[in-house]
Amino acid sequence: MMDDSVLKKAAEKYGTPLYVYDKAIIDRQCDAFKKAFKGLPWEFGIRYAFKANTNPEILSIIRSHGFGGDIVSIGELEAGLNAGFKPKDLVYTSNSKSREELARALAAGVCITHGNIMECEILNEIAKERGVVANVAFRVNPDVDAKTHPKISTGLKGSKFGLHFERNLAFNAFKFAKDLENINPVGLHCHIGSQITDMSGFADAAGKLIDFAQKLDKELGVRLDFLDFGGGLGVSYDGRPVVGVEEFAGEYKKILADEGGKLSYRPNAFFEPGRYLVAESGVLLTKVNSIKETPYKKFVNVDSGFNTLVRPVMYDAYHPVRVVGKTGGDITYDIAGNLCESGDILAKERNLPKVEVNDIIEIGLAGAYGYSMSSNYNSKPKPAEVLVDGGKIKLIRKRQDLRDVI
Ligand code: LLP
Repeated sequence: MMDDSVLKKAAEKYGTPLYVYDKAIIDRQCDAFKKAFKGLPWEFGIRYAFKANTNPEILSIIRSHGFGGDIVSIGELEAGLNAGFKPKDLVYTSNSKSREELARALAAGVCITHGNIMECEILNEIAKERGVVANVAFRVNPDVDAKTHPKISTGLKGSKFGLHFERNLAFNAFKFAKDLENINPVGLHCHIGSQITDMSGFADAAGKLIDFAQKLDKELGVRLDFLDFGGGLGVSYDGRPVVGVEEFAGEYKKILADEGGKLSYRPNAFFEPGRYLVAESGVLLTKVNSIKETPYKKFVNVDSGFNTLVRPVMYDAYHPVRVVGKTGGDITYDIAGNLCESGDILAKERNLPKVEVNDIIEIGLAGAYGYSMSSNYNSKPKPAEVLVDGGKIKLIRKRQDLRDVI
């Protein structure tokens, strides 16, 4: 938790709504992730999932830990290159890429992950025109239930992501790609979902990935540089216990020793954490405009809404809420956003101390998928972002102004 005096100072100086990140927490999470994976039987690399938070300053912090990146757009590619990531440390995954996007990614020299064969054929054409060979990976659909919110479950049969093992779709993709002159299949990828708090799905998917790599080696003679196990490790938004990074890494150590031991060679292992690295580092500060009491509820009307933080509305996500500089409290409030939609409630039925106009409300664990999912809905400018580093508060993204919006 950041110091109330620092939060107040930041809100006074930079206004609200405001995203505030604590550098020490990002460093702590990166160190914990690295430390937990030490001793993995395979060489490993961490590819931070940029989509969680692409602020340039935060990308630089993450790069300083030696991590690469999982990118999903040309915007994220440029953000990564701008922050000093090397192309060889970036993997470009998305379910749908245009010819132009493929061409740019190829020119940059990043590994491109396909979830369908047609995209790989298009890439082959571009690579042929340029006389180069493209490194690619294929994403598989392992048909695994991650037991998380349906909107962030990606490994189920009906999902748009990945190539199924069924009907040999995944196998045939490698078979096809292996014979393309300008394509070099180097990786195998899966990602089963996000905010996962149960280990069984991860273990299931990892086992299937390794078995499949073995099949590729035996039947096609394809040996890969890497197996990418994706991201998804959850954090505790409400204080209830979740799978810790030690347990998470411990499970992979076991799987790579047991299942992995059956593989005739040792590829690298990649992991793509997003949320775990940045969620806890960030809070959203929002100011109280007015209080409203109806016969049924007490609403705190604040100066942000789901344009600023969409998670509560989109995933029914819980984020902790407190009033900066006040403690205790047993008055039950809903924190109401300022957008013209009745669903725009940022937190429901929270016990807080008496809230007054101009109080600053802190919405916690907003460092991941907060700013990165913000929008200009209702013609609202996007908020500013600041980084707290020791005692210093640094502006790391300017607030948009009305000219940006209109
Ligand atoms: N790798 C791939 C291919 C992904 O699609 C994702 C997230 C990750 C890694 C990182 O997952 P993480 O470690 O952050 O769970 N907006 C949602 C989360 C969407 C995640 C999409 N993919 C939310 O706010 O909960």
